[in-house]
Amino acid sequence: MAQQQNVDLRHARTGIELRPGLDGVPATQSAICDIDGERGLLTYRGYPMEDLAANSSFLETAYLLIWGELPTCDELARFEHAVQMHRRVSFRVRDMMKCFPASGHPMDALQSSAASLGLFYSRRAIDDPQYIYDVVVRLIAKIPTMVAAFQLIRKGQDPIQPRDDLAYSANFLYMLTEREPDPLAARIFDRCLMLHAEHSLNASTFSARVTASTLTDPYAVVASAVGTLAGPLHGGANEDVLAMLEEVGTPEKAAGYLDEAIAAKRKIMGFGHREYKVKDPRAVILQSQVEEMFARFGHDQLFDVARAIEAAAESRLGPKGIYPNVDFYSGLVYRKLGIPRDLFTPVFAIARVAGWLAHWREQLGANRIFRPSQIYSGSPPRTWMPPEERVSAPAA
Ligand code: SDX
Repeated sequence: MAQQQNVDLRHARTGIELRPGLDGVPATQSAICDIDGERGLLTYRGYPMEDLAANSSFLETAYLLIWGELPTCDELARFEHAVQMHRRVSFRVRDMMKCFPASGHPMDALQSSAASLGLFYSRRAIDDPQYIYDVVVRLIAKIPTMVAAFQLIRKGQDPIQPRDDLAYSANFLYMLTEREPDPLAARIFDRCLMLHAEHSLNASTFSARVTASTLTDPYAVVASAVGTLAGPLHGGANEDVLAMLEEVGTPEKAAGYLDEAIAAKRKIMGFGHREYKVKDPRAVILQSQVEEMFARFGHDQLFDVARAIEAAAESRLGPKGIYPNVDFYSGLVYRKLGIPRDLFTPVFAIARVAGWLAHWREQLGANRIFRPSQIYSGSPPRTWMPPEERVSAPAA
């Protein structure tokens, strides 16, 4: 019978000790994004998130993340035009989506359709800058179209084509809701995309880098990252936050809900972070976007519940460095925009594809395939025996 051994958690050859979840372990060197978790600071290529959120656009920010510098007027115009010209998706991909079950989760639909692009664009000239540019344009342009297409298809409708006269974020909201959005709504959504575009070596970006390190096609890299982002401990938390706010129901019940959840050792969705030990700076900006949305388009009392939970959590979780993260307020913005709850994480993916592509390009520039080691704690060597001599092991 297999025996779990008590083992030395240091690697025999390197002496490095096992760190669950690679907590605090540098797995790569990167110049894309820096996080100061103690002071709650976030910069993209050296530019503070607050500065970009106030002045930039998602496409300009994506360009900065991927190529390292803010684009000139001509570079930005060329990039925006290229993205605009590549928004459409082959009818074959749309027809494939029509075979997906309408009850399927949109993140599974996105992962499948993103991977399918590798069937249409199979070239892998990863040392050709033009190839990399074309891949970036294609994915940034088509991911929103695929997210919006599945939404209409699962309602039994044909997807609507992108509108070339609408900018990136306005066009996505149009394809999703079949209505041209209010300019303020489009601007706030575009800001949300900037806030979600990149965050150093989070789980889905690490997946992207590991997959990229094998030199597979970029569509497989993005599909791998989408699958990782879907998890409730990562990008999937934004959906669960809204469910929590609805379950709590009123601000008066917030403290009691927290006490019961903490006593039951349940994680509070939208709270906590491996890096931040203060309030996530993105949550600060997202909270201001919620307030701007509600001032213009009407209040949602779930915001009052959220504020009450945050206030009650201060004394209960703050001493452990557990504060709201990026997922705590984002869902309230998306709900006011009319985005269905199970599309919140696909929206996260629309933004994060910029960061994943930046890390894909950076990994290719100094690649070594990821192959970490392990600490073996399994059975010592033993000999095979015929079935009739075996006794069943107790259930694990
Ligand atoms: C994202 O990495 C990134 O950058 C991710 C992201 C990005 O932009 O890519 O920022 C996006 O994923 C945001 C996180 C969204 N997930 C959630 O909101 C789910 C709830 N959060 C937790 O699951 C947790 O905080 C994590 C997953 C975010 C971080 O987990 P860690 O760093 O592994 O921390 P842990 O689970 O080891 O917890 C350490 C302690 C534990 O208490 P003790 O056992 O030591 O007493 O903190 C507690 C945990 O119980 N804790 C929480 C908590 N998060 C941690 N307690 C209550 N509620 C929580 N949310």
